[in-house]
Amino acid sequence: MFVPDLPIRTDRLLLRAFTAGDLAVLRDYRGRPEVTRFLYHEPYDDAAARAAIDRLVRRTALRAPGDVLNLAVTLADTGEFVGDVLLSWISGEHRQGEIGYVAHPDHTGRGYVTEAAREMLRVGFEGLGLHRIVGRLDARNTASARVLERLGMRREAHLRENEFVKGEWADEVVYALLVREWRAAA
Ligand SMILES: CC(C)(COP(=O)(O)OP(=O)(O)OC[C@H]1O[C@@H](n2cnc3c(N)ncnc32)[C@H](O)[C@@H]1OP(=O)(O)O)[C@@H](O)C(=O)NCCC(=O)NCCS
Repeated sequence: MFVPDLPIRTDRLLLRAFTAGDLAVLRDYRGRPEVTRFLYHEPYDDAAARAAIDRLVRRTALRAPGDVLNLAVTLADTGEFVGDVLLSWISGEHRQGEIGYVAHPDHTGRGYVTEAAREMLRVGFEGLGLHRIVGRLDARNTASARVLERLGMRREAHLRENEFVKGEWADEVVYALLVREWRAAA
């Protein structure tokens, strides 16, 4: 179990818990088709955004396998919302986790997501004591693959048409990092 001390600070960012006040920005960026193209969900409408924020505000700790930590990524200087990151606790027995991230399209190309996702790896390895953390993505999502490569994660698998997503068969790519690889890179 791990309850992070929030907010988490990095050079440029504050990673904080979601609040009800994030509803409008969440509806905005997750309502855009270019953002959700390789996500499992369709662009949010008002109802979907409200349901999502109700979930997100409660996901502030990893108390048991199956729990997800979702954090809003904001600029330390201005408080501006630039995206979100998550760490999912996949298995207690096997000490496995998964990271995920979505950038607000007005704030891509600046390395904010990589900087934030690195903190999710830190929470997983140093806070929760995970052995291995994965990142999974649609094989066409090259911007996401670059994030995982910048994080030092290893491309482990390319699964052919293993998922039927939004009306079509999609390939999935899996990246992973072991705790000893994280420590060696520190
Ligand atoms: C995937 C996604 C998060 C990547 O966003 P991004 O802005 O490219 O990622 P980062 O914030 O890490 O920024 C990295 C980019 O900023 C550039 N950059 C500028 N300053 C930087 C800095 N100080 N540090 C690192 N990178 C920097 C990098 O060169 C890189 O650009 P490149 O990929 O063209 O080389 C974004 O495209 C997105 O949200 N997509 C939709 C949702 C999605 O698909 N999520 C992933 C699901 S698996």
